[in-house]
Amino acid sequence: MRAPARAHRRADRSAVLRRRVGRGVSGVQRFALDGQVAVVTGGGGGLGSAGARALAEAGADIALIARNRAKLEDAAGLVEETGRRALIVEADVSDAAGMVAAAEQVAAAFGRVDILFNNAGITNPQTVLDVDPREFLRVLEVNVAGAFHVIRAFAPSMIEHGYGRIINMGSILSGRGMANRAAYCASKAGLANLGAACAFEFGGDGITVNTLGATVIVTDLNRELVRTQPELYARIVQRTPLGRLGETEDVMGALLFLASPASGFITGQTLFVDGGYTAG
Ligand SMILES: NC(=O)c1ccc[n+]([C@@H]2O[C@H](COP(=O)([O-])OP(=O)(O)OC[C@H]3O[C@@H](n4cnc5c(N)ncnc54)[C@H](OP(=O)(O)O)[C@@H]3O)[C@@H](O)[C@H]2O)c1
Repeated sequence: MRAPARAHRRADRSAVLRRRVGRGVSGVQRFALDGQVAVVTGGGGGLGSAGARALAEAGADIALIARNRAKLEDAAGLVEETGRRALIVEADVSDAAGMVAAAEQVAAAFGRVDILFNNAGITNPQTVLDVDPREFLRVLEVNVAGAFHVIRAFAPSMIEHGYGRIINMGSILSGRGMANRAAYCASKAGLANLGAACAFEFGGDGITVNTLGATVIVTDLNRELVRTQPELYARIVQRTPLGRLGETEDVMGALLFLASPASGFITGQTLFVDGGYTAG
């Protein structure tokens, strides 16, 4: 009995779907996000606030999720400057029930969700032998389990409308290791493969799930590490074909692409935005 009901729902929403996926629309218009709704976790941080602004400039209203209200208010200001609406949700992504409540808040304010930028994250600069097991688990709890809770909370709205773009914020360390980053490496590889699994589970519902694999972008996450470990970051620059670390703006083109109808036949992938670092 369940399969026909699902098929019927899909047929009903096909007209809306055609509009949103950009069928019959070519060129640059397939990158537009007019009238869409995006959720950005870690929305008060460096990449989150830049991402929220970029998605708003492309036409989306934005729900910003994180714990620090002052930073969320700054990011909401960046969104509202574009003429789009911003909703602040103070919540911890590692709280499963909190994410369900966040999804209810977003539904009440905006009605649905089209784009999820699963970006909240933390790091830990320690070795396997040095890191406190509780710290190791906390990184996994936020970076992987947090993303899982967020997807579980927001994917049903996408399934309901037969359309969605989920972009997980991975790293160059989604695909390779580095000393003194054990928990972070484990979490970002896990996040990318969680995305690949979701790509299979949600593909039939018009939802794509991809990961951004960014190189080092100097933000609050790593500013102190970049200052105190200059040799490490100089080595990264040295083996990067484009010869520098990244800036938040460097990630925005790839984010907008994966968030837009234009990327509709790409799913389960990690797109490295790293100046070529992972090419070697
Ligand atoms: N910067 C880089 O070099 C780089 C490279 C590759 C990938 N990334 C990834 O990009 C993402 C954003 O990092 P960023 O560089 O923009 O760092 P950031 O400025 O420190 O931002 C991190 C964001 O995550 C939020 N966050 C942390 N724990 C949270 C929790 N438990 N619940 C809800 N929100 C939480 C923070 O807000 P609150 O503290 O207010 O909750 C903050 O908004 C992270 O996933 C990071 O791993 C960064």
